[in-house]
Amino acid sequence: MNDNSVGLSIEPRAELVNRCNLAGIEWHELQDLSNEQRAPYFNNERGEDHVLLAQQFGRERLDRIGQLGTAIRQIAKSRDGAIFLKELLSTKRAMLYFTQPSSRTFLSFRSACQILGIESSEVRDTATSSEVKGESQEDSVRTFSSYCDVMIMRTHVPGFSERMAWVLAHSDRPIPVLNAGSGKDQHPSQAVLDIYTLQRSFEKQGGIDGKRIVFVGDLLRGRTVRSLARLLMTYDDVKMVFVAPDELQIGEDIQAMLSDAGVAFELSADFEPHISTADAIYMTRVQDEWDASEGRSTPIDVSKFHFEIRHLDVMRPDAVLMHPFPRREEIPIEVDHDRRAVYWRQMRNGMWIRAALIASIFGHADSIFDFAEDRESS
Ligand code: MLT
Repeated sequence: MNDNSVGLSIEPRAELVNRCNLAGIEWHELQDLSNEQRAPYFNNERGEDHVLLAQQFGRERLDRIGQLGTAIRQIAKSRDGAIFLKELLSTKRAMLYFTQPSSRTFLSFRSACQILGIESSEVRDTATSSEVKGESQEDSVRTFSSYCDVMIMRTHVPGFSERMAWVLAHSDRPIPVLNAGSGKDQHPSQAVLDIYTLQRSFEKQGGIDGKRIVFVGDLLRGRTVRSLARLLMTYDDVKMVFVAPDELQIGEDIQAMLSDAGVAFELSADFEPHISTADAIYMTRVQDEWDASEGRSTPIDVSKFHFEIRHLDVMRPDAVLMHPFPRREEIPIEVDHDRRAVYWRQMRNGMWIRAALIASIFGHADSIFDFAEDRESS
């Protein structure tokens, strides 16, 4: 596909294509659109309004967010740089609405807010909100929006953050919404940080273009893989290999998305042959919290889909091993010391990339780049 802008390959209904204004579309109309068609409604004229779908990111935006993440990381190393960053958004407040468990995404978003001087409040358990008194989730979120300037949301309901962005766009507080993981469908900020990790890992190897990325584990319900596959579509000649037990293989919607875009991919139930040819191996855990009945995934033998210590000898010397975490038995801790195991760095990258996303939503990308440039030349 390789287009640099969102939604180029779409053919939406003509009457909707020109508007692309979230406040000007009915919810049922928005829902009828595909993700590709919906994405432009979540961007403002700078392309940086809400962060809800991987489909909002073209290559140019990914490159810029990566550069911004690097600039923030470097600026934050010095005291004057950290103070500059902290003053950028010190008049803003964020609401972290995380009603689904989270460690890394929650803490990295909160740390990103702290880096930029944003004060944050949090709701992590709806049992402590008026939802227990029968208030709808929408009213609750709209209430929280009265007290903040940006909403960062994780819920188990697919599309809930999109719905809230739409609800708020129709209110007198149309604040930006960031999707921090929605059901089984999307995890755009994780996918952007994964791309950043790949960009940095392949800096001296021509970048992400032409690389072979092997995804392993529960690909059916892993939202990180679903969003990352969409972002990888924006690179040239990337080959994706999806390795999973048949029951947990990547969804047909993602396969159709890749086929329609002419992106090469392969499905496999055999991990071993792909280890020596991969540029990146992206491990995932079984997402059994989504089992229809408890223990449904348990009978599936996933042991063949674990990375073992002996696989280090087979892996290419310049390849990388990634994992969005949490991990279970997919990667033994002994592997952590190998320089190709980049998952701890990937985790920390999340903080810089989330800071970059927030800074750019509030229009501070240029001032950060200017600060970085001034420091370099002084
Ligand atoms: C997620 O929120 O999707 C995680 O980062 C990955 C996982 O839970 O396995």
